[in-house]
Amino acid sequence: MDTFVVQGGNPLVGTIRVSGAKNSALPCMAAAILTEEPITLENIPQVRDISTERRLLQSMGAEIELGEGAALGRTTICCRNLSDPVAKYEIVKTMRASSLVLGPLIARTGMARVAMPGGCAIGGRPIDLHLKGLEQMGATITQDHGYIEARVNPQVGRLHGAELVFDKITVTGTEDLLMAAVLADGETVMENCAREPEVVDLAALLVTMGANIEGAGTATIRVSGVNKLRGARYRINPDRIEAGTFLIAGAITGGDLIVSHCNTSHLGAVITKLREAGARVDILGPDTVRVRNHGKLIAADISTEEYPGFPTDMQAQYMALATQAEGTSLVRENIFENRFMHVQELVRMGAGIKVDGKTATVIGPARLSAAAVMCSDLRASASLVLAALVAEGETIIDRVYHMDRGYEQIDEKLRGVGAQIQRLGNLFPPRAA
Ligand code: EPU
Repeated sequence: MDTFVVQGGNPLVGTIRVSGAKNSALPCMAAAILTEEPITLENIPQVRDISTERRLLQSMGAEIELGEGAALGRTTICCRNLSDPVAKYEIVKTMRASSLVLGPLIARTGMARVAMPGGCAIGGRPIDLHLKGLEQMGATITQDHGYIEARVNPQVGRLHGAELVFDKITVTGTEDLLMAAVLADGETVMENCAREPEVVDLAALLVTMGANIEGAGTATIRVSGVNKLRGARYRINPDRIEAGTFLIAGAITGGDLIVSHCNTSHLGAVITKLREAGARVDILGPDTVRVRNHGKLIAADISTEEYPGFPTDMQAQYMALATQAEGTSLVRENIFENRFMHVQELVRMGAGIKVDGKTATVIGPARLSAAAVMCSDLRASASLVLAALVAEGETIIDRVYHMDRGYEQIDEKLRGVGAQIQRLGNLFPPRAA
């Protein structure tokens, strides 16, 4: 198990490059199931969730070719033979997004068997809305031995279009049912859809494969099903959460950072909040943004919302910034019920934070001092790294495998702009029994 050792105090200065979006790459890889022809995806980030999804697809019979050298980031997936349309628990338990194969598997093969995802550090995370939609499209769902099985009536052979209204906005739920609808018989109208850029990315790939989709990026998506989809080549959009994390790194360290290869149009809520908190943010072009902070930060409240609101995936990182801002910041988490796991660790570093239900009250500025801390989930880890960058002394961050699930070479990237961060092997070996 790797550990980061971070010496705080250096302002980050220079240019830092954003990788492809993990949360776009995951559904786009699952979309390869929908066709017998190869799908080539560019700008795939080299992170652990992606290698987990590769293993998942391979276990079902997919052939996968990875680019090397300059083509690192290119992945070609061919699902000509799907010999085993089953997402096994061994893989699903390590990555909840595995449920994204449900829709495409049943659409392509008429049946899917997917292990039920368990809870995770940030909440219960059910997939009832995915299942409800599939049932409305004609699937029969059964559950046994921890698995969900979805089947279409063999006499009918395929799903049919339906009018679906999501009771709650769900990102992977929208993506899963979109992938089911593109091969369904007739028209599907989906209401109250997630409007996240990752949904738009997936829809753009599906259209390149021959799907008929209108309205991706709005609350209503209309799909007219086709009989067959073809191979395609598609470039994944930049990761807006990684970009946002870097913007906060620049602001919290009092640095001057240029964040390149991002999509600035996806960063509106985060940029607005950083400006409100006193950082100077200049958009230099459609894919480049500069953040500077030479004065003091001031408290500003956030409330997480679905896109285009402030992303829940940036809440933990923003909280690290709020610890350095003068005044009281209220951080309200509306999407997940248990996404404050980073609070206790930040408090151990000296932050003044109190949690009451959905709201954390952060009183700043706090002098953070280095401590041994532990990552609990992906974005919580990012929050601890950000806090460590301004803490006095050497912070030891354990369980950075959480971070490796979704941030590509974060230590190398941050070192490149002046952070003192080292990756070590396990500093806390398990005690002998
Ligand atoms: N929900 C239900 N029933 C469902 C589906 C969702 O009640 O069938 C609830 C969830 O419990 C939650 C809310 O709806 O309270 C929103 O969950 P959503 O389904 O949108 O989350 P997700 O699709 O599982 C994706 C991202 C998450 C991100 C959320 C919210 C991927 C692979 N994951 O998850 O990313 O936090 O949307 O934006 O796209 C991360 O990258 O760190 C991460 C956790």
